[in-house]
Amino acid sequence: MKPVVIAAALAGLIGLGLFLAPMNRPPVNESSASRTEDPAKRQAKGAYLAQAGNCMGCHTAQDGRPYAGGHILATSIGTFITPNITPDPETGIGQWTEQDFWRALHDGKARDGSPLYPAFPYTDYTKVTREDADAIFAYLQSLPPVSQRNPPSRINFPFNLRPLLYVWRALYFEQGVYRPEAAKNDEWNRGAYLVQGLGHCNACHTARNPLGASQGNVLGGGQLMGSNWYAPSLTSLQEGSASDWPMDDIVQLLTTGLSSRAAATGPMADVVSQSLQYLTPDDARAMATYLKSLPGSAPHSRGTAPELTDEVDRQFRRGGEIYEKYCQDCHGSFGQGAPGVYPALAGNRGVTLASPINAIRSILNGGYAPVTESSPRPYGMPPFAQILPDEDIALVLSYIRNAWGNRGSLVTAVQVDRSRKGAQ
Ligand code: HEC
Ligand code: HEC
Ligand code: HEC
Repeated sequence: MKPVVIAAALAGLIGLGLFLAPMNRPPVNESSASRTEDPAKRQAKGAYLAQAGNCMGCHTAQDGRPYAGGHILATSIGTFITPNITPDPETGIGQWTEQDFWRALHDGKARDGSPLYPAFPYTDYTKVTREDADAIFAYLQSLPPVSQRNPPSRINFPFNLRPLLYVWRALYFEQGVYRPEAAKNDEWNRGAYLVQGLGHCNACHTARNPLGASQGNVLGGGQLMGSNWYAPSLTSLQEGSASDWPMDDIVQLLTTGLSSRAAATGPMADVVSQSLQYLTPDDARAMATYLKSLPGSAPHSRGTAPELTDEVDRQFRRGGEIYEKYCQDCHGSFGQGAPGVYPALAGNRGVTLASPINAIRSILNGGYAPVTESSPRPYGMPPFAQILPDEDIALVLSYIRNAWGNRGSLVTAVQVDRSRKGAQ
């Protein structure tokens, strides 16, 4: 496209954005919190809910003060640096009212009314009730104020033009608190409320278009923006669906990150250690009930096993040798792992996903199962980036994707190289 055409299109969109701005519904002006409730109780409830929403994960810089912001989020439209949400009046949200906070969480608006970027997952938090939002606010306001001014986000042109967000909102944002389904029981509805709302599972587990809007099947799997991770479909039996798991295994995976069927790694390990491990047993079961009920749809894209030619057979043998030398001590001679310590690779859907990017990363960068109260020092997987060349990583991966009854496409050295370069 010619620059003139782009400029004209942009001018049009911004015009449209400003036109759409007043059409946004004014925030609902009611606070349901009963003022008689004990403030300490409300703060404690808010602390719990803030954990369920993992607000701290995004609003705390590495080694920074909790909730003081400065955390860096790379996305396809630029780099966000999260704001300070401690009650400091100058640099945080100390001057905010309950109503301002409700508008941010429910309607994605800043205190001055300007639209916020959906890198803040208000598209999910909009499902949170007023009562819960008020409790989170009460908790945040009870924190020690931290005076910390964070650098502004660096968002690429033209996405740095905030009026464009009005267009985005008109196209993609549906505001509204979660409405319980009458046909389902309380436990299921609680699980749905947590998964769709505070848990913002959708933010990672649903594919996004280049503008960062969810598209395709809800929880149908998608690559994380700005990173080399794929969050598997939670509705496909080939990927991360738990519909045929016993309840206890799902609860165990959510709250410890390890079960006999899967291990949480990378960003999911963070979700477990920062958020899900703190769920009450009732809430963890509610979430599992909802996840188990999700329809097990057709696979997002199924990995295909290669045809067994002499060349492929030779590759598998070389991959098997590498496995024996570097991997077998932990993952076992039949890929069976060791319960609660090393994940099984046999029958592990994370290993055979159509897209091998997660498995490549695990081998390049290593990793730890989530740090939790029950497992404060989990066993780790060493990084192999400096030990094995791309070719060998491809061979061992092709091998584990096809050994012990696993089925998956071959991995190439080019894919490993791409992941090395794009790794974040
Ligand atoms: C995935 C990362 C992420 C998570 C999780 C997250 N936030 Fe944010 N938040 C952001 C980003 C990025 C912004 C800035 C958006 C912008 O600049 O438009 C933001 C902005 C905000 C703002 C507006 C602050 C201001 O100064 O305008 C508030 C309030 C807020 N978040 C509260 C929360 C709460 C409460 C939670 C948990 C329920 C939460 N956030 C969870 C990323 C996140
Ligand atoms: C920050 C992004 C992110 C968020 C938020 C997130 N996930 Fe994940 N999730 C991932 C990634 C990446 C993987 C793949 C790595 C792995 O298997 O651990 C994953 C894997 C999983 C798996 C394992 C599937 C399997 O069988 O191996 C389950 C189950 C899961 N997520 C459930 C959830 C639920 C429930 C929520 C919301 C409470 C959630 N996730 C929120 C990124 C995320
Ligand atoms: C010292 C023990 C150890 C060695 C050696 C080791 N691993 Fe691991 N591996 C682990 C642990 C622990 C995890 C779980 C880490 C995590 O959750 O991030 C893991 C995770 C993995 C995963 C991700 C599993 C999942 O569910 O997503 C893959 C794939 C993997 N290892 C393959 C290999 C291969 C291939 C080798 C040899 C090149 C190897 N490992 C060597 C301990 C080891």
